[in-house]
Amino acid sequence: MARELTLRIFRYDPLNPESKPCFVDYKMEETPRLNLFVALHRVREKQAPDLQFDFVCRAGVCGSCGMMINGRPTLACRTLTAELPETITLAPMPAFKLIGDLSVDTGTWFRGMSERVESWIHTQKEFDPKAEEQRMDDGTAQKIYELERCIECGCCVAGCATANIREDFLGATALNRIGRFMLDPRDERDSEDWFELVATDEGVFGCMGLMGCDDVCPKELPLLEVFAYMRRRMSQVAAGRAKADAGTSQPVIT
Ligand code: SF4
Ligand code: SF4
Ligand code: FES
Repeated sequence: MARELTLRIFRYDPLNPESKPCFVDYKMEETPRLNLFVALHRVREKQAPDLQFDFVCRAGVCGSCGMMINGRPTLACRTLTAELPETITLAPMPAFKLIGDLSVDTGTWFRGMSERVESWIHTQKEFDPKAEEQRMDDGTAQKIYELERCIECGCCVAGCATANIREDFLGATALNRIGRFMLDPRDERDSEDWFELVATDEGVFGCMGLMGCDDVCPKELPLLEVFAYMRRRMSQVAAGRAKADAGTSQPVIT
């Protein structure tokens, strides 16, 4: 017999002064292979025409459907109701500005992050439109590609305690992006250039290392490895600076 599902959905319209944050229950019969994309559209078609949520690709590619599903940041379009209990609680992801109901503004956050990490190749080389494409060995290209698979869904930010309490914390997706440019031989920024941004409390040393981000990333990016790589590179810079200081400083006790 088909289950009766209860979708307990957070409702709030910040633009409506009369709206108060609350959860509202919507019931529906579960059908085979039902996912939350279809379930939410059914709610909107039949019960709550003003319900706000975001979906674009429905295939785990665009990153727009991240939400808290029973307390865990997840892509709704890739979630089958069969994997969940009969009562499914849906809430917007924290750490992002609420647009309304389940919809949050991840775009502004990711734009700010891209600008902060200067998410483009830095090079002194003059651009020559006639030049042949620069070659890269397969191994390096593969490593960069692996980190480029981030779909900017924001699940890792929503699942990160540090990012939730500190707006200045870069977060896993930004550190992953930086890792991508560190690997790219066309980018001329070296470890020293990254040091002020990355080797701080806002960067990799503010991370508590409990890997909530790694647990919830729907693309299974190797965030653990990225952090380890970055910590290593930043520690090398710090060790080099300490050595230089030790070599030039005057003895305290003569
Ligand atoms: S390891 Fe923890 S603190 Fe560090 S970025 Fe991931 S979720 Fe945040
Ligand atoms: S690192 Fe993973 S969880 Fe974070 S934004 Fe990218 S794809 Fe989403
Ligand atoms: S709708 Fe595109 S990732 Fe879910």
